[in-house]
Amino acid sequence: MVLRSRIIGCGGYLPDRIMTNDELSGLVDTTDEWITGRSGIRQRHIAAEGELTSDLAVNAAKAALKDAGISVDDIDLIVLATATPDETFPSTATRVQAKLGMTRGAAFDVQAVCTGFIYALTVADNFIRTGQAKTVLVIGAETFTRILDWKDRGTCVLFGDGAGAVILRAGEGEGSTADQGILSTHIHSDGRDHDCLYVDGGPSSTGTSGHVRMQGQEIFKKAVLRLAEVAKEALDHNGLTGADLDWLVPHQANLRIMRGTTKKLGVAEDKLIVTIDRHANTSAASIPLAIADAHGAGKFSSGDLILLEGIGGGLTWGACLLRW
Ligand code: ACO
Repeated sequence: MVLRSRIIGCGGYLPDRIMTNDELSGLVDTTDEWITGRSGIRQRHIAAEGELTSDLAVNAAKAALKDAGISVDDIDLIVLATATPDETFPSTATRVQAKLGMTRGAAFDVQAVCTGFIYALTVADNFIRTGQAKTVLVIGAETFTRILDWKDRGTCVLFGDGAGAVILRAGEGEGSTADQGILSTHIHSDGRDHDCLYVDGGPSSTGTSGHVRMQGQEIFKKAVLRLAEVAKEALDHNGLTGADLDWLVPHQANLRIMRGTTKKLGVAEDKLIVTIDRHANTSAASIPLAIADAHGAGKFSSGDLILLEGIGGGLTWGACLLRW
């Protein structure tokens, strides 16, 4: 019998404040037409002053717990993906653990920037498959707007803040649900591509948090290549093809990249989950936010085959194939 990680609940949280492209055009030399045309982004949410990554994460976690119908006492591990932790240490996950009132188990962060949620899911899935955890809270949470250079129009228009969470539970497949849950995860990195996307600061280098620096076109080219590769790897691994997919939930970085991958996989565009127009790029939060958004809209049915994929700083990239 195969032990699988099943998603038993999900939830998202977005800060109240919305910044439109028009509002941004008052801050930097840009237009709604440029931003929408190049990226698909129409607006982004911005965390309030004093609202931390852990606060966003806690709200998403509470929504996921409610959706799963379980209590925090059922959780034995928190894996939180973020590139914008509350503090250099301790981990944001331990702050979330305390804020949720969870007094047992373990909590730690995973850092793979925009691929962070796929990495966190991979770690959590392996804990479950090896029997080291039964119920895991996996969170992607970011206050990415805090590390933006608001004078750099090439980056500041692209990102937003938010958090998403899923709850994984170990399940031994039986009967019609035998195949439900995470089928496989696939992660990669290539540190030689550091300069494509990085933050020019940190505790060991400058002693400051730094700001996002990005070679947009380089990332674009690599994203198109790597995402198609890793999506095929996940499908091949399970003896499936793009035609078998019910939904594609990509990291929401650029609508053109997302549509490109959809086309390469031979997936119909109405199977592509899109939130970038409303959320912008929320880094590690974008995939779990998109999952929660689609679930909330009643899009997923039991047994649906879903591919998650993303790329981010590092470079890092990865995919996860699952049956809802
Ligand atoms: N408003 C108006 N003009 C702009 C803006 C802006 N906000 N930003 C750049 N421009 C200008 C440039 O200066 C340039 O002008 P020039 O031709 O006079 O020199 C022109 O627009 C074209 O710039 P490009 O950078 O060539 O535009 P491109 O079509 O590549 O789109 C974009 C830029 C949207 C950033 C795109 O390259 C992209 O999405 N790249 C991928 C980003 C990404 O996926 N990041 C993922 C990882 S995120 C993570 O891990 C944190």
